[in-house]
Amino acid sequence: MIEFEKIILIPTPLIPVYDSSFEKKKVEVWIKRDDLTHPEVSGNKFRKLKYNLMEARRSDSDHLVTFGGAYSNHIFAVAAAGHYFNFKTTAFIRGDELNPDSSPTLRFASEKGMTLRFVSREAYRHKEELVKKTSSSDYLIPEGGSNRLALAGVAEMADEILEKTQADFICCAAGTGGTLAGILSNTKYKGKVLGIPVLKGGEFIRQEVTQLLGYDPGERLILKTGYHFGGYGKTKPELSAFIESIQHNHNIPLEYVYTGKLFFAVYDLINQGFFPEGSGIVIVHTGGLQKNSPSNS
Ligand SMILES: Cc1ncc(COP(=O)(O)O)c(C=O)c1O
Repeated sequence: MIEFEKIILIPTPLIPVYDSSFEKKKVEVWIKRDDLTHPEVSGNKFRKLKYNLMEARRSDSDHLVTFGGAYSNHIFAVAAAGHYFNFKTTAFIRGDELNPDSSPTLRFASEKGMTLRFVSREAYRHKEELVKKTSSSDYLIPEGGSNRLALAGVAEMADEILEKTQADFICCAAGTGGTLAGILSNTKYKGKVLGIPVLKGGEFIRQEVTQLLGYDPGERLILKTGYHFGGYGKTKPELSAFIESIQHNHNIPLEYVYTGKLFFAVYDLINQGFFPEGSGIVIVHTGGLQKNSPSNS
């Protein structure tokens, strides 16, 4: 039994936002402030980890093993979750030239007690081999945390939205597609899911979602692949200015890797008239601010 509620804020607030362009286009917009779950185990990371942590505890495993890059929100969240919920943690980090001081994320993870194992990019490509070397009592969590149990946690976030409003569109940033798949897996939700891939060539997300769900979501999943701003972790002055304006006008912190691109895309699509008049639109703020860290990347 893990008492998440002791430190995790759930349900997270769903707040209405107002903007002259929303009124002009006759749409209603809410933000699901999932970034407020916890400063360090925030947003979709908590949702994806929840049932994995429960399963690890149920199967008497006290060691979480996972994978990621030097700036990964997932590594950050697993290190923090291990610290708060009493699991040892190990992460295989892409790049054998790195060390725990190579990024604020790695420094944070190491301070939280995570064992960091730096592996070459070549070895990282063959993760299955690394996994074979771990003990059978280890609990493995895939890169990005997206697996079947992750979907159940994300589906609960969609439940929280449905308790407050019947959305026509739930909009979310996409990296691996796990969060989109989790929202789609909620059978009570009948509306559409709009995904904004943050990587170039984001069409691959449909296959990932299909694989995680076990079926093709068809027209219920809409991907808008033109908002990557040059690729993963890339930004442009107009995106940075937009993020500042959201902070200034609505007091909502965004970063440029995931949620900045998402919010920019939804605002742009509203202005273009993409959403039919009368639509209820929910933007999911998935966190990712790595608040304890000096960097937001
Ligand atoms: C803050 C944030 N938002 C969105 C995503 C995308 O989630 P997913 O990998 O499930 O598509 C991630 C992680 O990849 C993330 O860290």
